[in-house]
Amino acid sequence: MQVKTITQTTQDMIDRRKRVVSDGVGIFAPTSAVRAEGAVFYDAEGREWLDFGAGIGVTTAGHCPPTVVAAIQKQAEQLIHACFHVSSYEPYIALCEKLVEILPHGDATKVMLTNTGAESVENAIKIARQYTGKSAVICYTEAFHGRSMMAMTLTSKISYKEGCGPFAPEVYRLPFPNVYRRPKGLSEEEFVQTEIRRLHDIFENTVPSSDVAAIIIEPVQGEGGFNIVPQAYFEALREVCDQHNIVLIADEVQSGFCRTGKWGAYEHYGLVPDLSTWAKALGSGMPIGCVIGKAHIMDAARPGSIGGTYPGNPVCCAAALATLDFMEKENLNARSVAIGKLMRTRFEAMQQRFPLIVGDVRGIGAMMAIELVRNGDPHRPSYDRGDVFIKGCWGQGLMVLVAGVNRNILRVLVPLVVTDEQLNKGLDIIESELEKIND
Ligand SMILES: Cc1ncc(COP(=O)(O)O)c(C=O)c1O
Repeated sequence: MQVKTITQTTQDMIDRRKRVVSDGVGIFAPTSAVRAEGAVFYDAEGREWLDFGAGIGVTTAGHCPPTVVAAIQKQAEQLIHACFHVSSYEPYIALCEKLVEILPHGDATKVMLTNTGAESVENAIKIARQYTGKSAVICYTEAFHGRSMMAMTLTSKISYKEGCGPFAPEVYRLPFPNVYRRPKGLSEEEFVQTEIRRLHDIFENTVPSSDVAAIIIEPVQGEGGFNIVPQAYFEALREVCDQHNIVLIADEVQSGFCRTGKWGAYEHYGLVPDLSTWAKALGSGMPIGCVIGKAHIMDAARPGSIGGTYPGNPVCCAAALATLDFMEKENLNARSVAIGKLMRTRFEAMQQRFPLIVGDVRGIGAMMAIELVRNGDPHRPSYDRGDVFIKGCWGQGLMVLVAGVNRNILRVLVPLVVTDEQLNKGLDIIESELEKIND
């Protein structure tokens, strides 16, 4: 069925939007989307865009995968809403069973469903507090955890939260162990050891461990610019949490579901968090997320203290089940690794060609980024050229997104159904735009 629209052009749409939609709902890119399939979408002018952003990491299984569309249609004909607090229904339970199977958190695992990433984070904090009977939460610089009040408090970047306070109390922030931007003269290992000491010191100089309910960290930061938690640091975090009865929460909202070549990025570390938060790719665009965790911690939440009217809506659950099924059948984890390899090879070649502007190439699996700097210096982020670069890519029909406090990190979140030909086409565009800003 064709969606009827009175909008003729992208500009018309943006003009209408500006008249009736709050400016607070920011516009990242001046484009429109009318329909989409696989790794491309089409704007109001019918122009094809190669999508290296996936609606911020959501359409990992591709735009409108036919089996997901069919599952949504079928479920919508049968049951759209019941509210899981009121009546139990199959898709919610089946989805939790599937999540427990693919993402076990120790011997016994339980799940609660949510609508969004921020909601997953809010609930994980509530569960951790009820389990430990403690209140403080430790988070990180360059973190992004969402826009609801606790999630926004945990988020680092000021432009997301300016003027929205007062924020939630009892939140403490550690510097993210950003290896690329480590102080000059420190080796990677020395730097990581310094940050581990800082982690231990926080209980001496900032908040006692007896007050701390949770530490929340993104194994690979999303909005922060695909900064990867060093192995030794994650191991230290696990130890510290065990030692002090602190709940370790891995926020996998952006890194989860095949993006890094595994279901969760934490799996690369050979350790298991106590709780983890998810959303985005799970529903292929339908609003669904979850908290997964050790059963005894999940069960510490008192009945009625987590949940809501809509979380785990039957149609969203059907979409999520079909998405996970598709990811498994198409082996998107393996595809993610292959995409990552291709991207890394191309990005490293670009770094060799433009060593002064491509400061860093990093990522796990298909969660790859390049950091744009001045004069090859990690401490001189190239904000203005990042903007010129991204606009150049848009001009060539490539949807790319930037990340990082300084908006100088190109992050790729391409749908994993992308073909090698499409991938190389997008990377050619990136290379040609880097050439233009190279000086
Ligand atoms: C790591 C992480 N956590 C939480 C969120 C918030 O998710 P949502 O926008 O679905 O609330 C995001 C969104 O980008 C994210 O990247």
